[in-house]
Amino acid sequence: MTSQMRRIALARRPSGVPVPEDFAMETGPIPTPGAGEVLIEVSHHSLDPYMRGRMDDAGSYAASLELGETMIGQGIGRVLASEAEGFAQGDVVTGMTGWASHAVLPGDQLRVLDPSVPATTALGVLGMPGFTAWTALREYGRPKAGETLVIAAATGPVGAMVGQLAKAAGLRTVAIAGGDQKCQLALEKFGFDAAIDHRAHSEANSLRAALAEVCPDGVDIYWENVGGKILEAVTPLMNVHGRIPVCGTIAWYGGSDEAANRLPQVWRAILTKRLSVNGFIIFDHWDGFPAFLEEVAPKIAAGEIAYLEDITEGLENAPQTFIGMLTGGNTGKTIIKV
Ligand SMILES: NC(=O)c1ccc[n+]([C@@H]2O[C@H](COP(=O)([O-])OP(=O)(O)OC[C@H]3O[C@@H](n4cnc5c(N)ncnc54)[C@H](OP(=O)(O)O)[C@@H]3O)[C@@H](O)[C@H]2O)c1
Repeated sequence: MTSQMRRIALARRPSGVPVPEDFAMETGPIPTPGAGEVLIEVSHHSLDPYMRGRMDDAGSYAASLELGETMIGQGIGRVLASEAEGFAQGDVVTGMTGWASHAVLPGDQLRVLDPSVPATTALGVLGMPGFTAWTALREYGRPKAGETLVIAAATGPVGAMVGQLAKAAGLRTVAIAGGDQKCQLALEKFGFDAAIDHRAHSEANSLRAALAEVCPDGVDIYWENVGGKILEAVTPLMNVHGRIPVCGTIAWYGGSDEAANRLPQVWRAILTKRLSVNGFIIFDHWDGFPAFLEEVAPKIAAGEIAYLEDITEGLENAPQTFIGMLTGGNTGKTIIKV
């Protein structure tokens, strides 16, 4: 056990895509758990796109981080000391540790991990991103065999899970991903029927033409992960009564995508095609998490669902890795090994 706690704090509010100066490494004494609390030595923490929103002070569905506050995020680690019932030294647990080497959390905000699957899966395929895919595909995608689904960020933890669940439900699945290597992964590892490299198309019209070729029957479900050029390309290809689960718009997280200025075309397609467009935030659905684990964990243990993790070593590398993930530098679920 090291004698100091290290944490990455929000040093400055970013403008657009964050830069390393927006973060600061802080050190201090390792905290002591009070009654009902647990001290965790964090082994890994997650990096997720939603964290970018928390760095702004604009109002959103969740509170902003304060300057100086530890960057938010889920982590996993070993219990060093417990003052909470149900937790013993050495237990491997998960909770909202933040980007830090140690965390003290109330026992009722922690979960002991299932040892039959690798602990890091709790951050991706068996955690919030996998659960998001599992929940919202059924609830808002309403997939039917024979339909076509299109998804971007297709090799990320949300995209890879949506693609595999849709394929298992009998849909034609079309991936949009950044670069040849990710397109190959989408086809070979995650079983997509077709994959398009969005980086090869600087214009929405060109991307739309490429998509039209691999979606000969149109698009029934467009799972919205990205917004921007991709939304603009796909929406006119939607079939009547198509569904668009709106999960994320990462192309706009830095506020700079010029496609945002052309949104009226997209909204008109929503009207004329009578599309169902459902925004959702996974936090509203946590009561379904035990059912998700019960169904999906055995499939992960049996190797029936593929997943990919992109693990970078060193807490000090979290800011740069996070910045890279926001612009496609990750291949699979982004994780920091503290
Ligand atoms: N609503 C909810 O409750 C909820 C829950 C979880 C996640 N989300 C959202 O779901 C989306 C995917 O999350 P994730 O964790 O699976 O992320 P991820 O795929 O691990 O990482 C983000 C990916 O987005 C793609 N990307 C970034 N900028 C892009 C651009 N301008 N155009 C096209 N692609 C771009 C990149 O993939 P390529 O290199 O392949 O382009 C990048 O690797 C995000 O928008 C996230 O905010 C929402």
